[in-house]
Formats: sequence, structure tokens, C-alpha cells
Amino acid sequence: MKKISIIEVKELTRVFNGEVTAVDNISFTVEEGEIFGFLGPNGAGKTTTLNMLATILRPTNGTASVNGFDIHEDPDSVRRSIGFVFQDPTLDIELTGRENLDFHGRLYGLSKKEREERIAEILEVVQLTDRADAYVKTYSGGMKRRLEIARGLLHYPKVLFLDEPTLGLDPQTRRAIWDYIQKLNQEHNVTIILTTHYTEEADHLCDRIQIIDFGKIVALDTPDNLKATLEGDIVGLTFKETAEAQKMLPILNEIDWVNSAIPVSGENSQAGMSSMIQMMRSMGGGGGEMMPAMGGGGGGGHPSMPKDPEKITEAMKMMAEHGGLMRSFRNIHLLVDDASKRLPEIIKRVDKVGIELASVTMNKPSLDDVFLSVTGRRIRDEQGSMMSMFRRFRTMRQARGGRTPR
Ligand SMILES: Nc1ncnc2c1ncn2[C@@H]1O[C@H](COP(=O)(O)OP(=O)(O)OP(=O)(O)O)[C@@H](O)[C@H]1O
Ligand SMILES: [Mg+2]
Repeated sequence: MKKISIIEVKELTRVFNGEVTAVDNISFTVEEGEIFGFLGPNGAGKTTTLNMLATILRPTNGTASVNGFDIHEDPDSVRRSIGFVFQDPTLDIELTGRENLDFHGRLYGLSKKEREERIAEILEVVQLTDRADAYVKTYSGGMKRRLEIARGLLHYPKVLFLDEPTLGLDPQTRRAIWDYIQKLNQEHNVTIILTTHYTEEADHLCDRIQIIDFGKIVALDTPDNLKATLEGDIVGLTFKETAEAQKMLPILNEIDWVNSAIPVSGENSQAGMSSMIQMMRSMGGGGGEMMPAMGGGGGGGHPSMPKDPEKITEAMKMMAEHGGLMRSFRNIHLLVDDASKRLPEIIKRVDKVGIELASVTMNKPSLDDVFLSVTGRRIRDEQGSMMSMFRRFRTMRQARGGRTPR
């Protein structure tokens, strides 16, 4: 079957407030019938890209066509031909499921008869028929997500955009949503573009995955091809102390048959947090400004910050740019040709330095490893990391109208 590009993106860029380049000159195409995924950490630019394609947000530069319609020249046709499920829930919980769908159908100008028929049909697809007349406030998280997907499909779009379809859902509900997405794609011929920061979701669902980091595409291929770029096995070493991992890193990197040895932070976000606090203090902190509560760990209350906001920004930039995060790693991932063959030698080398390993793992490269190799970081760690703190802080300041030096 001949491949038809349903989405063509050319040099798309979005800069916020003249400062934050959220999407940085990206170009790609999506074929009709694909499930195409954007994989990236918080703040990578996934939602911004989707919003530009859905004509909700104007690009600073570049262009795109969706279903053959240009986003600049024919935004109305683009909007009519797509369905969109937003990252943040937008259901009216004081209405029933059916009423939410009906409201949407009216917005799209469907007649009463069309609305009734399509709503009945689409409720079947997402298996919500028996709960359709209950108030949405009585729905579970998974049911709400299904209803939002149903709403996105009501006007039979050829393309459905799903922004973080399973964010915050439990594994079982996530699986069920995956099944619906696949069914829509295979049985109803809907091209699907989704964003996620769950590597297993991207791996399971997507025909092709685009890894996006700091607004740039850093990889784009099928899950299998992405994993195949890392030939061999991954040996994961966990040390008891950061100092031990730091000492071993250059030694392991010297070994001929080690393709790469990469420090992996994370398991230990407390350590990352405390090294940041220490750094803040050394820059003259002492009460004053407080950081907002952070999502990803830390645990021990708000760190005390330098009084001067410019200094905070500077410290965060230093942490971000000079690998402050990495100073707290206790894990090293080694890419080797054959883990079972090399493992004894690796253990011997560590032993020779007088260090005892806490644990060892052996795995085939996963998408997590691909992400690590193309970005230098693990996607999970990013969720609560200094980098995302820095980004949130920057956004907060901008929202308050403050200037943030780049
Ligand atoms: N309206 C806005 N004004 C200023 N900055 C913004 C705005 N929207 C997004 N940004 C910034 O643009 C960058 C990309 O944000 P975006 O929401 O596209 O990321 P994302 O990949 O969807 O992240 P997440 O996984 O957290 O949803 C971030 O640095 C964010 O702070
Ligand atoms: Mg987003």
C-alpha cells in the first residue's frame, strides 16, 4: 500500500516570550494509519508541538499541514478534521457522559439525529454505554479518559491527537486505554499521534517514535530500530556510594569492549536534592525565597534559597549545565557486546579497586536505554529533577513578569 503523509511538519518553532524555545526547528512526517509517538520528559515541547498542529497555538516559525490543510492558511479545516484529547482533563463533571458528548457534537454542528447515532456508536467503542447517563463526577479516572477519547472521536476525525493519554492512570487502566487506542487505529482507521513520557507506552503502542528533548528531535524510528542502535547488552551496576561510582566510571570507560559507560542518577533523588541545597547555601543562601513544592521526591521540606532570585537562576543553570545532577549518581550502565561473557571481568575490575557492588543487572537495551544514550539522562529521573525544577521556576518567573537570564 502506498504511504500517504497525513501530517507534514516543516521547521516548526515556538518561542515563548522571546526567551524559551519550547520547540526548536523540527521537521517530520506522519503516515496515514500510523500510531506515531512523541516521547520526551517534562517540558520537552510535546504539548506545544501538538497545540501548533491543532492550530490552538501559532508557531513562531515554520509550518505544517494536517490532512492536506495548511495550519496557517486553513486552520478551520484542520480543526474540523482532527480530534484532540488534551493533557489536562476538560470534561464538565456536573454533566453526564452523554451530555458532555452531546455538547461537543453541537459545537461541531452535528444535527440532533447525527449526534444521537454517533454518540451511541462511540460509547460502544469505549464501552461506556451503561454509564453514559451517570454524572461524570461519579466516573473513575480511566472512565473519564475514555470519555474524553470518545469526545475526540465524535466527529469522525481521520487524525486523533492524544496528549498523555494515560498520565497518572494505574497500570491496569493504562492497559485498557492502550487496547482502545489500538482498536481505534486498526478497526476504525484513525491515525493517532500521541505524546507520552512512559517508554513502555511508546514501545507497546507506537509504529514510530520521535524522541524529543529540549524542543529538538533527537531520534526518530520504529521502537525496534531505536533499540537496535544499541547493539549488545546493558549491564547495570549499582554502588553503595556515589564516590565509588564516580571512581569507577573512568576506569570502566577505559575498557576496550565497553561501548559506553553512562552514569545514571535517580534512584537517589534525595542526594541530588541535597547537593543542590548545599550549592545554594554555598552561594550565599539563607532563608528568604522558597521554592514551590516539587513533584518528584526531595521529601525533606523546602530547601532554603539565596535571597537574590538571579542567583537562584544562576545556580540552577550551573546545576543543569555542568551536570550537578550527575554528581549524585550511584548507578552506571555499561553497553557491552555480550553481558554474560563480560560480567565476571567487570566484577573483577571493580573488585580490584577495592569496591563492593550493591547490585548488578543484565538486560537487553530498552527504550529507556535508548533515551539515556541519546539525551544522556534517564527519562524517569527527569520528572523530578533539577532540570524540571529549573524549567518550572523559569516559567513561574515569566508568569510573574520577571526577566530570566538565559
Ligand atoms: N504558555 C507558555 N508560556 C511560557 N512558556 C511555556 C508556555 N507553554 C509552555 N511553555 C514552556 O515551553 C516548554 C515546553 O512545554 P510543553 O508543555 O510543550 O512540554 P511537554 O513536553 O508537553 O511537557 P510535559 O511532559 O510536562 O507535558 C517548557 O519549558 C514550558 O515551560
Ligand atoms: Mg505536555
